[in-house]
Amino acid sequence: MEETVTVSIVSSVDKNCAPIILRLAWHGSGTYDQESKTGGPLGTIRFGQELAHGANAGLDIAVNLLQPIKEQFPELSYADFYTLAGVVAVEVTGGPTIPFHPGRKDHETCPVEGRLPDATKGLDHLRCVFTKQMGLTDKDIVVLSGAHTLGRCHKDRSGFEGAWTPNPLRFDNSYFQVLLEGEKDGLIMLPSDKALLDEPKTRELVELYAKDEDKFFEDYAESHMKLSELGFAEA
Ligand code: HEM
Repeated sequence: MEETVTVSIVSSVDKNCAPIILRLAWHGSGTYDQESKTGGPLGTIRFGQELAHGANAGLDIAVNLLQPIKEQFPELSYADFYTLAGVVAVEVTGGPTIPFHPGRKDHETCPVEGRLPDATKGLDHLRCVFTKQMGLTDKDIVVLSGAHTLGRCHKDRSGFEGAWTPNPLRFDNSYFQVLLEGEKDGLIMLPSDKALLDEPKTRELVELYAKDEDKFFEDYAESHMKLSELGFAEA
């Protein structure tokens, strides 16, 4: 079935929508809290309550776009469906193949607001969210930030405006190259992106991924899978 759903997502969703679909999948997973074992990819991001969280501004577009495809597969949970859609978004834009394991259950209770990272903050904050809350590592923070190779910021959603890379519909390692080159007219770097250069440990990873796209793809696929399976065991 996974293959049929993948084909449906690919054929129904224009490549231009890949970035917002990836953001939807990530915002669905990134609320996981390892201490309370709540949040994470449980399909709750489709509910108005969670969509109304400030960090999720604009994601109703992705939910509405995917809904007619989801209706073709009632046996699949929303949690698995959004996760698979995120995997497809990376693949159709030229990124790595990410292993997908179905079995997530849908929950009804939305996570509390405030668990997703704040783009105006630095590494300490990113570690609070990714490491303390989600249980991920510095390497996960850096490599997953590379997802900003896709898409753009919209003033009316986040308050920021512009794309990170010259081709925001191609998944490649250009995010890291642009980050190292410094601010450029017409492109954006959020404070949370620039923060990756603040410490030697994270900066070295930025340099590695800027040089070696294969390594970026390999590590991205691993970290994306980890992100998409947070709380999987307890769900
Ligand atoms: C490291 C912490 C992160 C912060 C602070 C952050 C923040 C943001 C912000 C402010 C936007 C702009 C939203 C808009 O105005 O439309 C955005 C877009 C995006 N983010 Fe992140 N993000 C982070 C990590 C991630 C991760 C881990 C992923 C995926 C694995 C991701 C994927 C995306 C994508 C694909 C977009 C573009 C959406 C579009 O074009 O509509 N981000 N992010």
